[in-house]
Amino acid sequence: MNILILYKTKYGSTEQYARWIAEEVNADISDVESFDINRLDSYYTIIIGSPTYMGQIQMKDFLEQNWEILKHKNIYLFTVGMFPWESPESKKSFEMIREHIRDKIGFSKLPGRLDTGKLSLSEKLIAKLTKAKPEDKVHRDNIAQIVKWVKELS
Ligand SMILES: Cc1cc2nc3c(=O)[nH]c(=O)nc-3n(C[C@H](O)[C@H](O)[C@H](O)COP(=O)(O)O)c2cc1C
Repeated sequence: MNILILYKTKYGSTEQYARWIAEEVNADISDVESFDINRLDSYYTIIIGSPTYMGQIQMKDFLEQNWEILKHKNIYLFTVGMFPWESPESKKSFEMIREHIRDKIGFSKLPGRLDTGKLSLSEKLIAKLTKAKPEDKVHRDNIAQIVKWVKELS
């Protein structure tokens, strides 16, 4: 089964999860920016990894713009962020994706990492205003549900 993991990342936590998943399920992996979109159709299962910034799932546009190709495949979206999945903020971000797409994909939100020392000035300001604390919740165990989803496909 040929599997592709496509991700976007700013500070590396989504990439870290993507790499762990690729190892576990033996998948090809690429940053979305350096991926040749013409190769999308050669995969039947695609796992999309996306950080969440300011309530926006960064891979939402990619998912929606390529849906005509993706809709024929097994698609899983994992998002990464500091708000837990149960929070209204996380639900709202997910619900911004068109409903017919949401209904057809596997989904989970994984806990992220906030290293305030690395942030840009404006990001530091946002972190301060939202009282966000530096925290690292990125652990390999968090990918278990995604690995299970892949194994159940076959
Ligand atoms: C400016 C800023 C805004 C953020 N907004 C959100 C958000 O709306 N929801 C969320 O769950 N996490 C939010 N986060 C946390 C990031 O999603 C988290 O740090 C994630 O691990 C980043 O992924 P990356 O390392 O792949 O870039 C924000 C972080 C920063 C610095």
